[in-house]
Amino acid sequence: MPDMSVTLSGLTLTNPIIPASGTFGFGYEFADLYDINVLGSLSMKGTTKAPRFGNPTPRIAEIPDGLINSVGLQNPGVEKVISEELPKLRQVYSKPVLANISGFSVDEFVECAKRFDEAQGVGILEINISCPNVHGGGMSFGTDPKAAAAVTEAVKKAVKKPVYVKLTPNVTDITVIAKAVEAAGADGVCLINTLLGMRIDLKRRRPVIANKMGGMSGPCLLPLALRMVYQVYETVNIPIIGMGGVASAEDVVEMMLAGASAVEVGAANLVDPFACKRIIEALPETMKKYNIEKLKDIIGGAH
Ligand code: FUM
Repeated sequence: MPDMSVTLSGLTLTNPIIPASGTFGFGYEFADLYDINVLGSLSMKGTTKAPRFGNPTPRIAEIPDGLINSVGLQNPGVEKVISEELPKLRQVYSKPVLANISGFSVDEFVECAKRFDEAQGVGILEINISCPNVHGGGMSFGTDPKAAAAVTEAVKKAVKKPVYVKLTPNVTDITVIAKAVEAAGADGVCLINTLLGMRIDLKRRRPVIANKMGGMSGPCLLPLALRMVYQVYETVNIPIIGMGGVASAEDVVEMMLAGASAVEVGAANLVDPFACKRIIEALPETMKKYNIEKLKDIIGGAH
């Protein structure tokens, strides 16, 4: 078996595959389908301080080679996630996970991060400053380097666990935001979140999605995500978790060559709930095909 292990801020993953937040529930829902312990880690459903019902429906629109979502951070709130969802996950999954945290103010990010910092089984705090589907929070922090740095700095001061900041592609230059969060103390960055898009219903002559716009994801995003991971790798000295359109073992290798230390798989889980398992099983053969002995050796290899 080739060496597929990777390391994120001292945390060793048996392989780089992490289901992306919002595409894998709280993880335990998939344990009836297969042994999810094959996963390198997993990123739980995005969590806010208070429970959220999410956006009005319709929330989903199809696009060629992907989808647009505007879920609106539906979640039961941090206390319920820690008291109910996380224990259920820990019954079926033994590795540290990523807690994906959203907020509408710096204080909210900090409070949520502090709760997950104390929680058993959480290895990394994934600070989501890139949700495009809410007003006054989410992406508004991730499109301004000062606001991005302020959230990062405040969270870092309040917690002990590694802080990875999830970045939006909806900016002119993602490296400016990456640099700002690195300078503010981020231990890593995750990119990319979804790209803002929309569809129009021809019969109704109105946007398909009730919230009008939403985040595009799916294989069509891979070249864009690769470009941004490549650029950010040349800009910062902290690990990158790459994501955006990854659907195969070859895509994972491409992401790592661009500079990712680990790879999140998102929309592919919505098409095929076995996508992550399939990718992990295909990795050894793909590594053999491209003469890769240790997966970690190829990180940034395309530079
Ligand atoms: O609408 C949503 O819940 C999406 C969240 C995200 O893209 O971060």
